[in-house]
Amino acid sequence: MKRPLGILCLAALLAACGSNQKPVDDVQVADPAGAENAANAERNKNRQRQYFVQGKNLYATYCQNCHQPDGSGLGALYPPLKDSDYLPNHQAEVACGIKHGMMGPLMVNGTEYNQVMVGQTNLTNLEIAEIMTYVYTEFGDQEVLIDVKTVDKYMADCTGMVNFNKE
Ligand code: HEC
Repeated sequence: MKRPLGILCLAALLAACGSNQKPVDDVQVADPAGAENAANAERNKNRQRQYFVQGKNLYATYCQNCHQPDGSGLGALYPPLKDSDYLPNHQAEVACGIKHGMMGPLMVNGTEYNQVMVGQTNLTNLEIAEIMTYVYTEFGDQEVLIDVKTVDKYMADCTGMVNFNKE
């Protein structure tokens, strides 16, 4: 009959310990919204890196003959992408221009260009998003992710060559 008594004692001990628990205020409560934001930020960072790497390869194939590997452009013929002041407020035109081309006079960093850029209609919206992520990150001044959904939206309003003569 010794055993049940031992169990009883143990139970009593635990109950006593229970009263020594930390006050609830000290316990850190997880912030579900904060954790979710952090997870989203991490996902976007990874996607940005993927887009950037793909975009770099596509840029080498489709763009750098004219705009040069370092984005500096070529004389009066091809405008620079490096630090181009045209890039920041014209994402929709850039997306549309990559696909369907550009023509007519446009100013880049104080110089007027008036040439024709041929479109690359074989590129998918995803590839255009990857190229733009690369161009805006590498030649702009900050890391950006231009995702495929954004390019889908731009393409919905893009019906043909971007023509600066019309503006
Ligand atoms: C055959 C040469 C050629 C190729 C290839 C080419 N471009 Fe262009 N690009 C031009 C020319 C020429 C202009 C100026 C068009 C005008 O005068 O209206 C231009 C203009 C631009 C502009 C707007 C002006 C600026 O410098 O910010 C961007 C952005 C651009 N190109 C990005 C690209 C990207 C990205 C690719 C690859 C997908 C590409 N281009 C491929 C010749 C080219």
